[in-house]
Order: sequence, then structure tokens, then C-alpha cells
Amino acid sequence: MTSLYDEVQTPTDGVPTRRVTMTVNGEKRTVDVEPRLLLAHLLRQGMQLTGTHVGCDTTSCGACTVLFDGRPVKSCTMLAVQADGHDVETVEGMSSASELHPVQEGFKQEHGLQCGYCTPGMMLTSKALLERNPDPSEDDIRWALSGNLCRCTGYQNIVKSVLWAAEKMRAERGEDA
Ligand code: FES
Ligand code: FES
Repeated sequence: MTSLYDEVQTPTDGVPTRRVTMTVNGEKRTVDVEPRLLLAHLLRQGMQLTGTHVGCDTTSCGACTVLFDGRPVKSCTMLAVQADGHDVETVEGMSSASELHPVQEGFKQEHGLQCGYCTPGMMLTSKALLERNPDPSEDDIRWALSGNLCRCTGYQNIVKSVLWAAEKMRAERGEDA
């Protein structure tokens, strides 16, 4: 068990902490947190999972997107205590030690990023989309990603990246044979 405040900061005097246990990228983690701590800050500062970016802090940009029980959520507007007993996946959990996830490969193949700030959130939202819809249209992809903003790419290559990943995942399952 790790106290977040051992790693990051001293808790505010008089503010009680809550013990929470969650599964992060397949690993069970127990931490003591102030009830006001945001999930994004727990992931980035408490767990050093800095692939979760913070852009707007107001639920607008999607840079902080993580998968919460498999569904995309904006971790800048969730409290860490709300994750107690739940499953959280960040971009660091997408690939195995030796292999990129097809969505990550798609972004590489189709040049779906420039600065990369939005990319972790884009990829996690895309992964969730492809798990529920293995053959999305371009419109489906644009709708699914409508809560994730990119300032660099114009979105064309992001959409192509997701289509590339969808095709690869279907081929791996033998569905396009
Ligand atoms: S930082 Fe969370 S939506 Fe922008
Ligand atoms: S690649 Fe720069 S914000 Fe999307």
C-alpha cells in the first residue's frame, strides 16, 4: 500500500484521507487520497502514469481520457475516490511489452499525430469504440471522437488511423478473410 502523499505532497492539515483500491492497467493499487483529489492527478502524480495528459481541466478537450470499466471518461473531472473498486486503463496499459495495440500501430502507420498531446485520449477512445463496433464508418469514428479535441492534425489522419486499426483487428480475428 502506498500513500500518495508519501510520493507527492503532504496532505493538507486537518483534511482526512480515504483509502481507495482500484485496478490500474491490470494491477491492483491501494492508495490513501484526499477526497478532493482528481483521478487525473492521482494517475499522473501519484502513479507516474504521465501519458494521461491534462489540457483544459474543464471536461472539454479529452486529453485526460482514460478507460473506466472499459468506457472512456475524462479523468480531470472525476474524483480519485470514485474509482474505488473499479478498473482504470491508461495509455500505458494499451501495449504489451513486445507489441503495440493495433490502434497505436494505426496512429503510427497513418501519421495520426503531430504534437501527440491529444493522442493518448484519442487512442483510448478509439480502442473503446472498436471493442463495441469493429467495423465503424468514418462518421461513427468522428462521432465517437467528438469529445477529444486535436489542435494539430485536422482529424483526417486520426480517422484513417482508426480505420486502419479496425481493419487490422478484423483481419486478426479472421473476419475480413
Ligand atoms: S483535461 Fe480533461 S477534458 Fe481537458
Ligand atoms: S496531435 Fe497535437 S493536439 Fe492532437
